[in-house]
Amino acid sequence: MTAILCAGVLCVDVVVGVVDVLPPPGDILFPETATVTGGGSAYNTGIGLAHFGCSVTLGGRIGRDPLGAVLRSELEACQVGTSALQSDPHRPTGLSVVLVSPGGERSFLHHPGANAALCSADLEPHLTQVSWLHIGGAGVLAQLTGAELTHLLRRARELGLPTSMDTATGPSVAMMDLHGALPYLDLCFVNHLEGTLVTGCQNPNAIATGLVDLGARYACVKLGGDGAVLVNSKHRVVSCAALPVRAVDTTGAGDAFVAGFLSVWTAGGSPEEALHGGAAAGAACVQHWGGTSWCVHKDPVPGTSDTVGKEELHP
Ligand SMILES: Nc1ncnc2c1ncn2[C@@H]1O[C@H](COP(=O)(O)OP(=O)(O)OP(=O)(O)O)[C@@H](O)[C@H]1O
Ligand SMILES: [Mg+2]
Repeated sequence: MTAILCAGVLCVDVVVGVVDVLPPPGDILFPETATVTGGGSAYNTGIGLAHFGCSVTLGGRIGRDPLGAVLRSELEACQVGTSALQSDPHRPTGLSVVLVSPGGERSFLHHPGANAALCSADLEPHLTQVSWLHIGGAGVLAQLTGAELTHLLRRARELGLPTSMDTATGPSVAMMDLHGALPYLDLCFVNHLEGTLVTGCQNPNAIATGLVDLGARYACVKLGGDGAVLVNSKHRVVSCAALPVRAVDTTGAGDAFVAGFLSVWTAGGSPEEALHGGAAAGAACVQHWGGTSWCVHKDPVPGTSDTVGKEELHP
């Protein structure tokens, strides 16, 4: 079985909805649903991979604080390896406030905390223990970007590991900084906005083609309710529709998609089969609040979540 090092952003997500307008300074609003969960691209994808029976170790940085301890124990409870998790002595565990709009689209207020210090040296010693490297959240990792990210991926390639990367929506200059990594990627995942920021293209097929022309072997553009497209280095396009489900919160849909996709792909599945695996996981995710409730069913943290939306968590 492929042993995956899933490295990158992990944090605590405070997911609140439905929010269609922010309160003016000094005012208050009362959203119906609030849920506290583990989150971040690497965390969500790691939990999803374990759900699908993959062997997965989480690589990242948390703080030496209670939130970091919660993330570590949640990962362990979900059978995700934590030997590549560093406790940062100086920075707190990352935190995102996730605002969910009517229709389920999410916006983030992200405080990176310890994620900002994640570096290649944290992860390199673990490459010899695994057979695949996945980076989740590229574009918002302050240090693991540009030449440092390229170095890590090149090192993985030298060791014979296939590599994949999923971006998060960072500032446009940080997204351009990812170009050097692309020649060392077997699979590059972006969503529509991220793909535009990296390639300058608007059309999904042009984004995917642009990413393979920059060096990725395969590029996958996730398109929310419009599905996803996958392009190989010969510009062959395979697309997959999204499943017709009612979305309440799209937080982590892309991370779940990547978990579903990789679980099929690393088991030898075809591009079509992998896309369908991704779409099924993405569709499961959007029907629940938060990025992992679709595969981690548990009661809300006492005192942090009311009962509205609970029927979505426990249909
Ligand atoms: N409304 C929806 N209905 C059905 N499936 C959806 C919906 N939204 C997303 N998906 C599925 O999830 C996949 C990934 O979603 P999306 O494009 O929103 O990724 P993303 O922006 O990277 O998400 P995130 O960064 O929040 O993890 C889509 O390709 C699709 O298969
Ligand atoms: Mg995403």
